[in-house]
Amino acid sequence: MKILITGAAGFIGSAVYRWLLANSDSHVVIVDKMTYAATLDIAAASANPHTVVELVDICDCAEVARLFRQHRPGFVMHLAAESHVDRSIDGPQPFIDTNIVGTYVLLEAARAYWLDLPTPAREAFRFHHISTDEVYGSLGPAGAFTEDTAYAPNSPYAASKAASDHLARAWHHTFGLPVVMSNCSNNYGPYQFPEKLIPLVTLNAIAGKPLPVYGTGSNIRDWLYVDDHAAALALILTRGRVGERYNVGGNAERTNIAVVRSICRILDELLPHSPHRPHEKLITFVADRPGHDQRYAIDATKIRRELGWEPKESFETGLRKTVAWYLANKAWVEAIRSRYGGERIGLSASVQSP
Ligand code: NAD
Ligand code: DAU
Repeated sequence: MKILITGAAGFIGSAVYRWLLANSDSHVVIVDKMTYAATLDIAAASANPHTVVELVDICDCAEVARLFRQHRPGFVMHLAAESHVDRSIDGPQPFIDTNIVGTYVLLEAARAYWLDLPTPAREAFRFHHISTDEVYGSLGPAGAFTEDTAYAPNSPYAASKAASDHLARAWHHTFGLPVVMSNCSNNYGPYQFPEKLIPLVTLNAIAGKPLPVYGTGSNIRDWLYVDDHAAALALILTRGRVGERYNVGGNAERTNIAVVRSICRILDELLPHSPHRPHEKLITFVADRPGHDQRYAIDATKIRRELGWEPKESFETGLRKTVAWYLANKAWVEAIRSRYGGERIGLSASVQSP
């Protein structure tokens, strides 16, 4: 099968790409604009006979239409996005552009292409819109997000993703485009850009730098190892019911401070001669994120029951693998850290004109 994957040079998109190459005979069209967050080795991917790389901005209508005409995919997995909450607080514009306008451009191009397909191909075509649990807002101490939870996005990032979810849903409802959707909790694993909590804290701890914990560290996230998400996405793409959404989560709720302490303990063990042991002494409580959501938790009953999906990694095994990966991949880390050294962002210091 031929799958066009937007955002395939990013953290989750590249994990999906690697998962598909390893577990299927798929041909992949990588579509990515290569923003600061793109971490895939594009030269290596281009050399793969199962891969075509297209360095295209999904907001570019003419180019996106060309991609469908030229490559004639049977499936679309749409992951391209601006993905970092803190950056959306400092500058929402790219979130509006890529997440909302880009999704609209992609849906319209997919619809025009799909309408012209011969019947069997039209029936088999799928557009998988990949989204986040942040569209549901923030939870109190009990309960979990289900597929029926009302939308209540709180950050500019979450609001832009909620808008894109509504567009994807409407393109199915009004035009009949065969859309499937998924909303996932926090991912972690190799190749994640070190602006997100787990890689940022891991790399700072290795370097003996402060480990910034927002507020009191009591906020809760539900963590999922990225390869488990990739496997879930492949199932939803091929076996998910059209017009349905699936929540994906690891059933691994942790407070941020517990996550940071776990990383410190793993590093104490893996780096017995580090001058920074015990790494916990580097923990520094800093000003809270504006509008910080208190708790996310996913009820993944639907995908377990309908598609038989189960995560393979526990948080403990996945975190250990992840920390070990960052220790073992120094060249990758150095190249990425030269783009962003981990300074604090997201305090909304200034207003940017649209
Ligand atoms: P990422 O920031 O690591 O990667 C995003 C990719 O999209 C990058 O390669 C970037 O170059 C590309 N991109 C951005 N704007 C583009 C544009 N205009 N045209 C083409 N390409 C563009 O993001 P991620 O963490 O891999 O997230 C992927 C998707 O999964 C996003 O839609 C995100 O909302 C969703 N998601 C992420 C998480 C998470 O924990 N990271 C959880 C649930 C859902
Ligand atoms: O829930 C899914 C979402 O998870 C995805 O849709 C987003 O794309 C992804 O970025 C992630 O959003 P979060 O805001 O939850 O992830 P982040 O890693 O930025 O922060 C995780 C928690 O850790 C959050 O409560 C804020 C806190 N934090 C974060 C950073 C970067 C800190 O305490 N210190 C930090 O330095």
